Amino acid sequence: MIISAEATIAGVIGWPVNHSLSPRLHGYWLEHHGIDGAYVPLPVRPETFAEAVAALPSLGFAGANVTLPHKEAALGAVQSVDEMARRIGAANTITVETDGSLTGSNSDAFGFLENLRQGAPDWWATAGPAVVLGAGGAARAVVAALVDAGVTEVRLVNRTPERATKVANDIGGPITVQAWEDRSRALFDAALLVNTTSLGMRGKSPLDLDLDGLPPGAVVNDIVYTPLETPLLAAAKGRGNPVVDGLGMLLHQARPGFTAWFGTAPDVTADMRAFVLSGLG
Ligand code: ATR
Repeated sequence: MIISAEATIAGVIGWPVNHSLSPRLHGYWLEHHGIDGAYVPLPVRPETFAEAVAALPSLGFAGANVTLPHKEAALGAVQSVDEMARRIGAANTITVETDGSLTGSNSDAFGFLENLRQGAPDWWATAGPAVVLGAGGAARAVVAALVDAGVTEVRLVNRTPERATKVANDIGGPITVQAWEDRSRALFDAALLVNTTSLGMRGKSPLDLDLDGLPPGAVVNDIVYTPLETPLLAAAKGRGNPVVDGLGMLLHQARPGFTAWFGTAPDVTADMRAFVLSGLG
């Protein structure tokens, strides 16, 4: 789409940023809604991150997404941080306010939950315990979303238990930390299993998990989306469990930023998903 000199501009700040799907997915929405706007990749090294963020208002940007490795640093680069970003300890969305100040927020928890609700409409928060594997940045967002949704027990399982304990303390709520060695046993009576580790990703080690104890109705979600059907999802599907892939979290987390910057609330549709998927190669 050809833009005018009055176009609204946003982008994604990362290092590297050349694999990001965000320009493609925001570009789809801009085109779909006929918006005079652009969403550009902004490759910014860690050394110049604060400087680049501070320059957004003077460059006329409406805002930006922030991706690896800057999500934690983003908290210190803006004037105000919303409650969710503070709790998670990272921001993925920056908005330039009308007075030129910068607000940092985090839409990963929103994206996770919206994807889960869209992909598994029969799941409900009080159906049973949720097992979350991993304790990195993604796990923080997933755990915060589940606690806020009203899940009565989140079993957090991580190779390094200290990291899981820190997540439980930072996020707060009914979170129990369980040993990595006990991960298969933790599945007993669970209503939801979420993998937030990098295990199962193309090029990484497989996730070694015995699903025998998982109830047949439990929903299985992998936030890894390369491949789209991870070995975990394939195994879960094979035994009849409902499964939700990870691409939707990426698509849904983009909605709040797009709405704030471009003034239109976009939807995640099958068409949009197929378009973004075709960019995965
Ligand atoms: P992100 O911020 O994207 O979630 P991360 O902080 O690198 O990424 O976290 C990756 C997660 O995968 C962590 O929970 C990590 O476990 P540790 O906290 O023990 O490092 C987990 N992970 C990575 N490789 C693993 C492996 N071989 N076995 C078990 N867990 C692994």
